[in-house]
Amino acid sequence: MQRPQTSHDRMRIFSGIQPTGTLHIGNYFGAIRNWVALQDDYDCIYSIVDYHAITAPFKPDKLRRRSHDLALDLLACGIDPERSTIFIQSAIPEHAELCWIFSAITSFGDLSRMTQFKEKSQETDFISAGLFIYPILQAADILLYRAQRVPVGEDQLQHLELSRRIARRFNSRFGDFFPEIEPIVGKGARIMSLANPSRKMSKSDGEAHYIGVMEDARSIHKKIRSAVTDIGPTPAQGMSEGVANLFQILELTGESDLYQEMQAEFVAGTLRYSNLKEIVFQTLMEVLAPIQKQRAQLAAEGQIEKILSAGAEKARVIAKENIRTIRRMVGLAV
Ligand code: TYM
Repeated sequence: MQRPQTSHDRMRIFSGIQPTGTLHIGNYFGAIRNWVALQDDYDCIYSIVDYHAITAPFKPDKLRRRSHDLALDLLACGIDPERSTIFIQSAIPEHAELCWIFSAITSFGDLSRMTQFKEKSQETDFISAGLFIYPILQAADILLYRAQRVPVGEDQLQHLELSRRIARRFNSRFGDFFPEIEPIVGKGARIMSLANPSRKMSKSDGEAHYIGVMEDARSIHKKIRSAVTDIGPTPAQGMSEGVANLFQILELTGESDLYQEMQAEFVAGTLRYSNLKEIVFQTLMEVLAPIQKQRAQLAAEGQIEKILSAGAEKARVIAKENIRTIRRMVGLAV
């Protein structure tokens, strides 16, 4: 297959991440590592979605710093601003405008079925309207750039299905403009919590549940050592969720020989979980240590503001052109 030559022949990718909490290995293996891998072959646009982050309780003085910190994390993971566009969502208010336009063609019923809304609205006393329409903003993020592919973890698939419906409805009401969106889901699409492996790893469940990409080795060691292994079915019936999660992490570190060896021990009934945990810790640190080192270097260089405003500049050109067409199609002022 011939490799595309210019950004025009390349398919466009869009994905986003919220600047809430700490970047964890679920985010990394489920999404960010794929974002990095896709940079060579696609026209990639990646956004730190701060408009999304304000739908749940937040502190204004922390939000901007979090966005910048997350940008540094993403660059340290391998997002290359020379090859990809990286920017903070609220630098491009057209995201919010398109969200509003899409809100007119999205049904209340569709939004009510979103499982993430059902879960999140139980965690807070104040359920904002923003939390409810959050998936519309997500559709607007992707479609503002007419992106065709969206690399995400499994928890975002329902939102992407809604984005597809919104695009189709727009096209049938106003004319063909948006492409079909396809998710890209990799191997680590659902990393589970270490402390409760029946739940997905998440920023909001508390420290014990996740491993931060930038977390120090001692703390990671402690968390892996105390990871739950014994709930769920016993080895005689199959692998428990906690052990399967450790195996998944081991596989994602790319140490396939060690993975095979540990699997063989599990099957033979000779596997010691303390040994598996030690190996998971060591192989995971081999992935994380270089990222952490790179993070320190990037922070010292102090270029992040410049990189983000150059990214916003590039994104703005596309956003403005597309919103102009959309306004014309819908019959709004141009
Ligand atoms: P967010 O910020 O919760 O997560 C960022 C990415 O990490 C993935 N992820 C996981 N993958 C595997 N295992 C896990 N335990 C795990 N936890 C999180 C998520 O699937 C996601 O890909 N709504 C989105 C952000 C967003 C977006 C978009 C994404 C806004 N606009 C447009 C794609 C396209 C969110 O809250 O992701």
